[in-house]
Order: sequence, then C-alpha cells, then structure tokens
Amino acid sequence: MIDDLFSRLDSEDQRREILADGAMLLHGCAHAQAPALLAAVDEIAAAAPFRRMQTPGALRMSVAMSNCGALGWISGRQGYRYSPLDPDSGRQWPAMPAVFCELAQKAAAAAGFPGFTPDACLINRYEPGSKLSLHQDKDEPDLGAPIVSVSLGLPAVFLFGGLQRKEPTTRLLLAHGDVVVWGGPARRRYHGVQTLKQGLFPETGNCRINLTFRKAGPPGRQ
Ligand code: SIN
Ligand code: FE2
Repeated sequence: MIDDLFSRLDSEDQRREILADGAMLLHGCAHAQAPALLAAVDEIAAAAPFRRMQTPGALRMSVAMSNCGALGWISGRQGYRYSPLDPDSGRQWPAMPAVFCELAQKAAAAAGFPGFTPDACLINRYEPGSKLSLHQDKDEPDLGAPIVSVSLGLPAVFLFGGLQRKEPTTRLLLAHGDVVVWGGPARRRYHGVQTLKQGLFPETGNCRINLTFRKAGPPGRQ
C-alpha cells in the first residue's frame, strides 16, 4: 500500500504534459541531477560571470546571462548572435559539462527528439523582478533540433504561445527540476517568462536559474 503510494507519487512527480504538437513539459525530469547542475553552474559562472546584456535597442535585459558549450548566445547593439568567444573576456565559453549534455539528450528523447546534440547552453539567472518578454528562438540556423529548457530554483510562470505573437498563451508554473522541450512543429512558438516573484531558494541564492540547450551550429553538423 505504502509502496503503491510512493510509486504513484514518483510517477506524478515525473509526469509528462503535452503542451502542443512537438512540445512537452517533463515535470521533475532534472530533479535528481539538480545539485550537480547547480555546482556546474557555479563553476561556469566563475569563468564566465553572469552579466546583463544590452538589447539592440540599448536597453539592459533584466535577466543576467552566461553560456557554456562551443557557442554562446549574445546580445548587443549589433543584434543577437552566437559566438564561440565570451565578449567580456575574449576567451572561449566554458565547455559544456557532461551532466548538462546527458540531461538535455535524455529530456529531448523523452519528448520525442532522439539524437539531440546541443552545442550551446544559455544560462539565465532571474532575480525577483526579472522577466523575459515573449519571443521566438530563431537565431539558430538548424531549426530541425529542439529546444530543451531546464528550470532550477525559484518557480516562475512560463508563457507558451503560438506561432504568431498575438495568439493566446498558456501559463505554466515551472518548478525546480522541470524541463520544457519544444521542437518540430512547435519549434518557432512564442514563449516568455513573467516577472519573477520573491521567494526562498537558498541553493540558488533565491533566484531562478534556467538552462536553455540548443543546437546553434550549421545544419547537419553534430
Ligand atoms: C528562454 O527563452 O531563453 C528562457 C526561458 C526560461 O527562462 O524558461
Ligand atoms: Fe527563448
């Protein structure tokens, strides 16, 4: 009876929620790896510190960012792009830790995208008051690969919309260890994060950390 209860709780914790054709929320999928992921984020941030980048319109983003992997996503007055070098240091971004790659691959496969090999991981740090406006991920030349997005720390309301900005959005509460995957017909769906509320999550410094895995290199290259 108790065993039944636990297995039921386990499966609820790990439940998969289909959001759209090609999009899935994997509840708790990164929960077990979270301490290792957060330790790796600290190491990456020691080499490539979080910074609030400028938008092409010369505004400062409220979300602080860093990257790991062969390519890093950067924003500045010239626009958005991927770069093998951290513009703040002129050095390569830190390598993507094995625990990151394995989790991203496993989550992508669980959502129906086997063989995902990310070469870029954007690390977003949201402090209370930070938000990310509705946008599409479209700076990657190979839109055949999915996006894998891992939530750690404080919960946030994720907005998941349609292929047009004006379409209605679904509000999803993303908790520590939740993973959202979108690809295929959902790859260009609009998404964003509502203003983060205050909360306690000392392991992440009372912030939310998001890891966004992408294949940002040219099509065909793995
Ligand atoms: C992003 O769209 O780059 C991040 C999404 C999130 O923080 O959940
Ligand atoms: Fe995005």
